[in-house]
Parts: sequence; C-alpha cells; structure tokens
Amino acid sequence: MRTPILISGLVLCAAFIAGQNKPEASTQVDRGRKLFEKSAKSLPCATCHALDGVGHEIAPDLRRLGAYVTPRDLMRTIDMQRTVFVQEVQTSRGAAFPGIQRQIRNDNIEIWDLSMTPPMLRQFKLSEIVSMRENVKWGHPPANADYAPQELADIIGFIKWAATGAVREITPTDLRASADSR
Ligand code: HEC
Repeated sequence: MRTPILISGLVLCAAFIAGQNKPEASTQVDRGRKLFEKSAKSLPCATCHALDGVGHEIAPDLRRLGAYVTPRDLMRTIDMQRTVFVQEVQTSRGAAFPGIQRQIRNDNIEIWDLSMTPPMLRQFKLSEIVSMRENVKWGHPPANADYAPQELADIIGFIKWAATGAVREITPTDLRASADSR
C-alpha cells in the first residue's frame, strides 16, 4: 500500500528538480530573449518586466501567467486594452499620471510613474494621494507595436520556458483564435 505514496513522492521530487534546472534554451527561446531585451518596434519588455535575470521589476512577474495560460491567452494579455494594476494617480503635487503601485510602508507609498521612459519610482505620503482611478489613458506598449506573429511566438516561447522550462516550439498558429494548447 505504501508504494503509490513512495512513487508519487519520487515524481514530485523529480518535478521539483526539473523546475530548478530548466532544460537548455532552444533557438526560439534565445530569439525571444533577444526581442524581450531589445526591439526596434516597441519599448522592449525588459524596460518594465524582469525575466530570467533580464530586465526591471516594475510590472507583474510574467512567470505567474506564463505558467498557467495558453500561448494564445498570453498574446491576448500582451495586446490588452484594459489594465488591472495600472491606475490613474492624482496627487496633491501636480498633474495626474498612470502609475503602478510598488509598495506601501507606514504612511509612505511608492508608485512607478509610467508616463516617464523608463518608468520612474516616485514616493508620496499617503495623505498626498487624492485618488487612484481606473486607467483609461496608458496603453501597454506592445499592444500598439507591429510585432510579426513569429516575433510574438518567439517572445512567448521565452516566457513559457522561463516560467515552466517548456521548450516546445510555439508557432504563429498557436496564437490564432482556434488554438488552445498549452
Ligand atoms: C512601459 C512598461 C512595459 C513594457 C515595455 C511592457 N510591459 Fe507588459 N506590463 C506592464 C504593466 C504596467 C503591466 C500591468 C498592466 C495591468 O495593469 O494590468 C503589464 C502586464 C503584462 C502582462 C500581464 C501580466 C499579468 O500577470 O497580468 C504580460 C503577459 C505582459 N505585460 C507582457 C509583456 C511583453 C511580452 C512585453 C514586450 C513585448 C511587455 N509586456 C512590455 C508594463 C510594460
């Protein structure tokens, strides 16, 4: 009766070790990483996202979504027209700006100001925040960039590999409406 427990324990250990040592990056993953760091078409992802030791931790960690959603859903998120975390921040110090909160400590709040390139970390007293409302102005830079389907597939290949170690080639077909494979 103990055997199944032992086997599932071994499987869990193997999965854990596999997660620690990702399989070697494929050529697609390498292409995706380069586009993540540098692109002539848009502000590169690494300006705001950190992944596999590349980039800045301003925007959400892409390993979370990367681990769970399909390549197509990742693409749809990249093309987002509505934001969840970014808000229109109005302070008593001046003009409103699109911001993403970094942290609140005691009565201080740190907010990344996304109106600046690269985004700038600003500090306020909580009492200086007049309002934080739904963002309707700031757009996710890649949503309006003209990435080719193959470029998006490569970037998503890099995200998937960094999140799960998967090296399955992501193709432009995976990003079409009918695709639902992970
Ligand atoms: C100027 C900064 C900036 C750049 C450049 C940028 N992003 Fe983002 N990204 C954000 C912010 C901020 C959010 C959170 C948006 C929100 O409020 O929902 C986000 C969200 C995302 C999400 C959803 C994450 C989640 O957990 O909800 C994905 C996926 C993503 N970005 C991928 C990319 C990729 C891929 C690129 C490059 C092709 C890129 N981003 C370029 C700032 C940026």
